[in-house]
Amino acid sequence: MAIEFVDLKRQYQPLREEIMSRIEQVLAGMNLFLGENVYRLEEEFAAYCGVPYAIGVGSGTDALHLALRAVGVGRDDEVITVANTFFATVEAIALCGARPVFVDIDPASYTMDPSRVEAAITPRTKAIVPVHLYGQPVDMDPIIAVSRKHGLAVVEDACQAHGAEYKGAKAGSLGDAAAFSFYYSKNLGAYGEGGMVVTKDREIATSVQMLRNHGGKERYQHALMGVNARLDEIQAAALRVKLPHLDNWNAARRIWAEEYSRRLAGLEDVLTPVAQPYAKHVFHLYVIRTQDRDHLQKWLKRHGVSTGIHYPVPVHLQEACAHLGYSPGSLPETESAAQEILSLPMFAELTLDEVAYVCETIRDYVRGRKAGRPRRSRSSAVREVAAK
Ligand SMILES: Cc1ncc(COP(=O)(O)O)c(C=O)c1O
Repeated sequence: MAIEFVDLKRQYQPLREEIMSRIEQVLAGMNLFLGENVYRLEEEFAAYCGVPYAIGVGSGTDALHLALRAVGVGRDDEVITVANTFFATVEAIALCGARPVFVDIDPASYTMDPSRVEAAITPRTKAIVPVHLYGQPVDMDPIIAVSRKHGLAVVEDACQAHGAEYKGAKAGSLGDAAAFSFYYSKNLGAYGEGGMVVTKDREIATSVQMLRNHGGKERYQHALMGVNARLDEIQAAALRVKLPHLDNWNAARRIWAEEYSRRLAGLEDVLTPVAQPYAKHVFHLYVIRTQDRDHLQKWLKRHGVSTGIHYPVPVHLQEACAHLGYSPGSLPETESAAQEILSLPMFAELTLDEVAYVCETIRDYVRGRKAGRPRRSRSSAVREVAAK
């Protein structure tokens, strides 16, 4: 059986007619940027997140960058975040001219360990960026408490957490501002690039509205040094068709996650993800952990199952971050997770047969390992696949 990591064609087929007709309407009107679809989507997404303001932008990276600028992050400021994230979290900080400062993760959730934040604060610290990784919100109460104590802004990286909840409140409604990505494979994805800043704060909203559109409210009037980061009407039109389905898709992801965890329970050296008591996890990714990750991944590939690693090299050890002065051993929990995590296929339209097959293939692997089955070399596995 061949199982893709994410199969977006299955989501598209039942929505095809509606999406094509909305796109056709946009093209018929030829109003391609910041028009009715963007403004309506902003209202709809703000309501979905339980906040008054949402501002459509060009990508999740733009959303983070502009939210950070709008809360006042600038040159030589420090921003506390994690290294177990997609690189864009840190690019956005660097785009403001600021310096990322990393704290280690809590190994139970793979997200920011709140108990480490206060020690990382210096007189230059301006903001904290907790990342709701894999679809699970960070434990936000202690982070908000520390931010208030020290007068820092909190910008949530909610790029993987559309619809997730923390103690009953939506991800995105917890900090001063939050960033979402509509990258095509996200829980809510566009058919190109897109992103959204959400906030409860009117001034932040106004700043982002200006920054995304060359720094002005009116054409050819530039009050701020902004960027071109507008969400386009075609993406917004497609996202408006999809948004009403998000809760059902998330519910399906949660069912598949439960099914995976049930079927993998008790396997030696296979840790399944644990939804924290404060969180409604929406499983953008279903991430298991095993010391034998690389061999298991090859085994799954050989049996037709695509997997991913999110992320294989932590941000603080990336070449582009060498100047920040971190080295192997700086963030032990993050580094050891990066060696062992493996993301299994996860999307709403998976089938029970597929989930069962993935789990059985993992069980087979563990049984073989226990029985001392010799692992074939990579080249013999490749020859076998090529011969098929
Ligand atoms: C945690 C995280 N932050 C930021 C981003 C950046 O979003 P985008 O790819 O839309 O720029 C992503 C998405 O890829 C992400 O997963």
